[in-house]
Amino acid sequence: KEIKVFAPATVANVVCGFDVLGFAVNEPGDEVVMRLVDEPGVRLLKITGDDGRLPLDSAKNTVSASVQHYLKHLNREDVGVEIELHKKMPIGSGLGSSSASTVAGLYAINQLMGNLLTAKELVPFAMKGEELACGYGHADNVAPALMGGFVLVRSYEPLDLIALPTPKNLFAAIVYPEVEVPTKDARQMIRAKVLLKDAVTQWGNVAGLVSGLFLNDIDLVGRSMKDVLIEPTRSILIPGFETLRALAMENGAVGFGISGSGPSVFALAKDEATARKITDAQQKHLTQLNINSNAYVSSV
Ligand code: HSE
Repeated sequence: KEIKVFAPATVANVVCGFDVLGFAVNEPGDEVVMRLVDEPGVRLLKITGDDGRLPLDSAKNTVSASVQHYLKHLNREDVGVEIELHKKMPIGSGLGSSSASTVAGLYAINQLMGNLLTAKELVPFAMKGEELACGYGHADNVAPALMGGFVLVRSYEPLDLIALPTPKNLFAAIVYPEVEVPTKDARQMIRAKVLLKDAVTQWGNVAGLVSGLFLNDIDLVGRSMKDVLIEPTRSILIPGFETLRALAMENGAVGFGISGSGPSVFALAKDEATARKITDAQQKHLTQLNINSNAYVSSV
């Protein structure tokens, strides 16, 4: 029995919702091919598209490790699994690269085992993979990758995930400048303490963004895409960040910010043509800065 599963990239944080908000896009993403075999144990046979950068050791790779964790939970360590991981998206890009691989693997094993858990129930297993990849099991990439659309992590302990309404005709314009920002490092640089006045601004925006999704008010979503806590620190790692923002807004974006821990940036737009105009202008600017980039336009 063999299965091939694609899992998508995700935009975590959605600017104001550090570790609590995320949404899935259609592309890019990763692919996992998985088969059940007689010999017990989880074996990662090969990885393509990673330039040899990811561990092939089954205990260290997020895909195989989370599959092992899933089988252990089910008391089915007698099951034999062979895995191939095909990376089709950049590593360390802020687009939920480790999450896409892990989620594809978990979705695959769950299908092969007869769909024993729901997508939402798979989230804690995927969070283990994130812990392995960046030191902290955040859910704002894996939950939307598994559940689709926008997801709110209302609480981590206990885990409480809310699927939010996803407005029709909402497009993400994503640009990935090819400088690497490992999530682990990008998390370490954040200040641990915040001022009450900044917290007030931040939770007003989180509530505004969620309200905008429920009211289908895209302009409200856009004006809530402000981050006074994390962006001032992390944006320093992103070349031309303020110009990229100006170009997004001038070209019709409703909001703009860092995708996950960066360096990718994203804008939301009301139609595909506007999203393309935004990524074109931003890529042109990055070329002027001598930085290679990739762009992805996707409905949300
Ligand atoms: N919420 C996480 C962070 C997402 O910002 O570190 C990482 O993709």
